[in-house]
Amino acid sequence: MSGAVSQLAGGAAPAVALLVAGRIATVTLNRPDRRNAVSLEMWRELARLFEALGRDEALRGILLTGAGGNFSVGADIAEFASVRATAEQSLEYEVAVDAASTAIAATPKPVVAAIEGYCLGGGCHLALACDFRFVAPDAALGIPAARLSIVYGVASTRRLLALVGLSAAKRILFSAERFGAEAAVAMGLAERRARAPAAAAQDFLEGLAENAPLSIAGAKFILNGLAVGEEPLDPAAAQAVIDRASRSDDYREGREAFAGKRPPAFTGR
Ligand code: COA
Repeated sequence: MSGAVSQLAGGAAPAVALLVAGRIATVTLNRPDRRNAVSLEMWRELARLFEALGRDEALRGILLTGAGGNFSVGADIAEFASVRATAEQSLEYEVAVDAASTAIAATPKPVVAAIEGYCLGGGCHLALACDFRFVAPDAALGIPAARLSIVYGVASTRRLLALVGLSAAKRILFSAERFGAEAAVAMGLAERRARAPAAAAQDFLEGLAENAPLSIAGAKFILNGLAVGEEPLDPAAAQAVIDRASRSDDYREGREAFAGKRPPAFTGR
């Protein structure tokens, strides 16, 4: 997959576009005329794509962003009448939404959301599943579920709670307010304000790419499990990721590089 532009959603202008440059993949929500509203097909495509990227050993980081100056205005409300009209359809729809964010959160690579403009509802759901959110000065983040009589899903509510704490999570969900970059950073909804968030995210990911992939994957697994795991963290699974890193060639490489006063060259094995 590396070193190429892939068009996974088909057609000349895929609604979910992938660009892989070196060790970093960029996934772009690409429906700028709809402010990158996410259709059912796009939720499904995001799940497939992040699962595939997670398996690509050459990749060390993933950037998720939106085309045309917005991250995403969330689920494509315009198609709700056809794809989310009945209770059965709603259930099926939410499964697809959660599969997309679960695939992002479960990817054993660091994922940064680079956010310009609107990041609302389902857009926020995707951003919350990323490991970090870098926001442009014009960013507007919010969850307008309370304006649509939608109960925000359990998985994303849990992620929101872990990030911002109980009272801020309640404020965000109860009020449906939009928060600017500064407020988002202050409440922990975003980590960094940057004039060009995609470039800042790319630099940040390039830096992380020098570190041991098994260390990062293990930390991500354990931290996500402790903070937002659906079940209490499985201690045997946590021990397995710790053991895997301890037995790796990279573990030896790290010690040898330290001893040799040279930068380590990690392979993820
Ligand atoms: N689903 C489907 N289409 C959407 C959309 C959504 N969530 N949000 C915006 N669009 C469409 C608009 O209907 C509009 O289509 P049109 O050109 O055919 O009229 C187009 O995208 C551009 O949006 P517009 O409202 O003209 O842009 P704006 O910059 O003036 O306002 C928002 C942007 C975000 C304030 C406004 O579009 C909005 O409130 N959207 C809904 C956000 C929301 O509730 N998201 C939660 C979904 S879970």
